[in-house]
Amino acid sequence: MKVYVPRDAAARALGADEVAKAVLSEAKARGLNVTLVRNGTRGMIWLEPLVEVETDAGRTGFGPVGPSDVAAILDGSSDKALGPVEDLPFFKGQTRLTFARVGLTDPLSLSDYESHGGLAGLKKALAMSGEAIVKEVTDSGLRGRGGAGFPTGIKWETVRKAEGAQKYIVCNADEGDSGTFADRMLMEGDPFCLIEGMTIAGIAVGASKGYVYLRSEYPDAIEVMTEACRIAREAGVLGATVLNSAKPFDIEVRVGAGAYVCGEETSLLNSLEGKRGVVRAKPPLPALEGLFGKPTVVNNVISLASVPVVMAKGAAFYKDFGLGRSRGTIPLQIAGNVKYGGLYETAFGTTLGEIVEGIGGGTASGRPVKAVQVGGPLGAYFAVPQFDTPFGYEEFDARGGLIGHAGLVVFDDTADMRKMARFAMEFCAVESCGKCTPCRIGAVRGVETIDRIGRGDASAIPLLKDLCETMKDGSLCALGGFTPFPVMSALKHFPDDFTANAKEAAE
Ligand code: NAI
Ligand code: SF4
Repeated sequence: MKVYVPRDAAARALGADEVAKAVLSEAKARGLNVTLVRNGTRGMIWLEPLVEVETDAGRTGFGPVGPSDVAAILDGSSDKALGPVEDLPFFKGQTRLTFARVGLTDPLSLSDYESHGGLAGLKKALAMSGEAIVKEVTDSGLRGRGGAGFPTGIKWETVRKAEGAQKYIVCNADEGDSGTFADRMLMEGDPFCLIEGMTIAGIAVGASKGYVYLRSEYPDAIEVMTEACRIAREAGVLGATVLNSAKPFDIEVRVGAGAYVCGEETSLLNSLEGKRGVVRAKPPLPALEGLFGKPTVVNNVISLASVPVVMAKGAAFYKDFGLGRSRGTIPLQIAGNVKYGGLYETAFGTTLGEIVEGIGGGTASGRPVKAVQVGGPLGAYFAVPQFDTPFGYEEFDARGGLIGHAGLVVFDDTADMRKMARFAMEFCAVESCGKCTPCRIGAVRGVETIDRIGRGDASAIPLLKDLCETMKDGSLCALGGFTPFPVMSALKHFPDDFTANAKEAAE
């Protein structure tokens, strides 16, 4: 009998380790021969810990499971039975390309990885020229999933063509956006996929060394990634002769101390070099002068982890999914006050309304949805009238927003949007690296100005708008430059939340 209990940090936080222990002790007490697999999560967080039992009819799910539910699961009399996991509507509706193996396989079994399609992309890439690999990635339409949406193939081509005996692949795993967890879930659930993507990138551009820059707040991901690199090295996937080819590539996991701004690529590079995490001016682009001044690909976890499927199935296959210039799939991370929170991978193009009300099931509180913040703490708030916006880079841009790293945080009608705008400014003030004035000083003044508005001084509203314009145009990086998005969108869509006290003061 094979039983799956996730080792993902979200499942562990909800008690998965205790459930795993109960599975082993109950099995021992009954003399049952149970193989326990600690898989990644399927991404349905409200069902965690989600236990799966392998049966002739597929994997049957039970959830959410506590240690006291285990006996009935093993007896076949559990009232927590959900049926075949892959038939659950939240799971069935997805198009899992990047996350195809997450939750399905044992994250640290290379043979499980290979038997579920792993390494097919790398094997194909090893038989191709760097130029041909880059062309395949360019043709797939894959764009940077960290937030900026820059075409991955074009970035790789800049690095491939750059002069330099030493080049690097840096994976940005400093996932700092509120409400996002796709990078973590991928690294904890299918680390070999990221290793394969980074290795393909290295072979394509002529880099022999890669770094995964992982935040210290992700201890589980650090452990799994480090162990997966060791296993891959031992199996000859990484090392001086990748899969017995003449190509060398190795990966090192580096842990950041947990500054939000280190998710910005130049700040991340400084941190990797052992310096303070302060933003560097661009140009020069990291693609030309990156880590230690060498040509460097800096890509987000999901961008790199999407490369194996692009290579294995071909650019045309991947490009066939999506909308407009947003090709392929996107792992939506649905969080906040929502009934069905979790990771939902789907082709670009689903409307915001379908995501929040259809997939997410509306609010957990049962109250009406008031707003959704898309793209992390620097993303704009969308109100219900904008829920017809399709999920795509240009489509969100046209509505004054950004998809960022595809995190969505849902709020019900009790949310005070002035307080949310204040939080955005406060977040920027705390996380600012201090290099440029509009962000360093502007964010502090922003908090004060929003407080003035909160005390009933409506004359400070034009000042806040002016300040936002200055931060947007004058900041060196996205932290100061994008903080105006949540502030201005809150002001635009929910003006009453800003003037409530002014009205009270006048009465
Ligand atoms: P950017 O627009 O300056 O650059 C995008 C990427 O393209 C960079 O890697 C840049 O080096 C590269 N690039 C630009 N022109 C190039 C060329 N000609 N050749 C090769 N490479 C080129 O955007 P930035 O500042 O890197 O990122 C901003 C985004 O980061 C925002 O959209 C925001 O949503 C996102 N973000 C994501 C976070 C997360 O946790 N994932 C946290 C904070 C922000
Ligand atoms: Fe640093 Fe803020 Fe300027 Fe970015 S915008 S460089 S975080 S001070």
